[in-house]
Amino acid sequence: MYKFKKENFLWGGATAASQVEGAWNLNNKSLTISEMRPFIKNLDRKNIKDVLDISKENYLKSIENKDNLHYPKRFGVDFYHRYKEDIKLFKECHLGIYRLSMAWARIFPNGDDEKPNEAGLKFYRDVFEECKKNNIKIMVTINHFDLPYPIIEKYGGWVNKKVTDLYLKYAVTIFKEFKDIVDYWLPFNEINVAIWSGVTGLGIFREDYKSNKLYLEACYQGLHNQFYAQAKFIEEAKNISHEAKIGCMVANSTNYPLNCDPKNVRECQRLQQIHRFFFYDLMVYGSYPSYINRFFKENNINLEIKKNEMETIKNNKIDFISFSYYATGTISLDESDKTESNLTIAGKNPYLKATDWGWHIDSIGIRITINEIWDKYHLPIFISENGIGVLEKLNEQNTIEDDYRIDYLKEHMIQIGEAIEDGCDVFGYTMWTPIDVVSAGTNEMSKRYGMIYVDYDDFHNGTGNRYLKKSYHWFKKFRETNLL
Ligand code: BG6
Repeated sequence: MYKFKKENFLWGGATAASQVEGAWNLNNKSLTISEMRPFIKNLDRKNIKDVLDISKENYLKSIENKDNLHYPKRFGVDFYHRYKEDIKLFKECHLGIYRLSMAWARIFPNGDDEKPNEAGLKFYRDVFEECKKNNIKIMVTINHFDLPYPIIEKYGGWVNKKVTDLYLKYAVTIFKEFKDIVDYWLPFNEINVAIWSGVTGLGIFREDYKSNKLYLEACYQGLHNQFYAQAKFIEEAKNISHEAKIGCMVANSTNYPLNCDPKNVRECQRLQQIHRFFFYDLMVYGSYPSYINRFFKENNINLEIKKNEMETIKNNKIDFISFSYYATGTISLDESDKTESNLTIAGKNPYLKATDWGWHIDSIGIRITINEIWDKYHLPIFISENGIGVLEKLNEQNTIEDDYRIDYLKEHMIQIGEAIEDGCDVFGYTMWTPIDVVSAGTNEMSKRYGMIYVDYDDFHNGTGNRYLKKSYHWFKKFRETNLL
């Protein structure tokens, strides 16, 4: 038995609006980019390129949906109508914090509306009050992969600096409205995902650019605009309330060199800088690190970066670091076996087992990652996502004996405990996710992460009823005893 020693540690769960809410066109909400990706039958789970790289034409076809395809994120798990029931279940297993995202499209459906949509504000106020009634703290992700489509149609996504103004209007509006009830804020989910999927993170279609170089340039421009938007939001929020606690969120794709050949070690270092550390470096230190400037130069990437934007970035830094951690991969310059990882492709690791989606299971990696991030940045750390996706079916007792999930969570939680003993300041953890949700990457309902089973299939057939898995009872007991 392992005793988790840190007191007042925040244990909780995370979800995202587009993966749980449903009600995609109710009460004035507009369509979002995540609701324009269809479910793909006969998906190759170990190669999800086709799902991620759907063409602009297919995104646009989803608007009229003449082909009658199923768009899972339009339905989620109907949290919009069942949130009271879900929050009650969260409370009963002692979740102390709930990280959820708000849908921009519910608040400013067209992006440039003059006034916020009252129905959208009311929905979130009701949800937040329900959390507080149940003694659950709240962390809000302001934007989680669901840019309203009208903003893409009219402005072309984040490459356009005008989107920064629209975002600020939205972010500051919800901050003013909810600053007294929301405990922590994350301006963007997995800000670095933009470099793997411009459409997901930035609303930028590959087809709109004549070459890879121009597309890459647009993605980094979009990212710069997000860095500035985040810093400007921090500035405005702190002017309204000094107390505001605002962090970043990075998809922490830790990779190891495949072996000790210095060529591979160096390549691993280079890619980790570009894919991971660049984001933390910029948001913690407030300037573009030298290695990314070299990368821009070598790839002929020219960005429009204004002096006042860099000043704002320099002067308004994050209070804490948060990241998602699911899997690790390997890097090698030679041809090596590849596997899927969270929205990226990674080299295989012969020492690790993998899930049905090819994601390596690596609990020690979370301790390595926390130590690395703490040593480099010395800012408090919050693990904002961690969990395992599995194919599951209810048994005759209407439950699931998900010992593999218990093992996964337990091993990762022990390693977090060890990282804290190493001296790292980690203050909370929200598992992905307390309840089954639609998958962000593959749009499947059957890729289940929850401790609570939801009775919907990939086509949203089912009662939507909630059932408790074995892990739910395990987690509840852990919260009562601190024993793992
Ligand atoms: C992260 C996202 O990338 O990983 C979540 O922030 C997502 O939205 C999670 O659900 C797991 O990925 P997937 O593709 O298995 O749902």
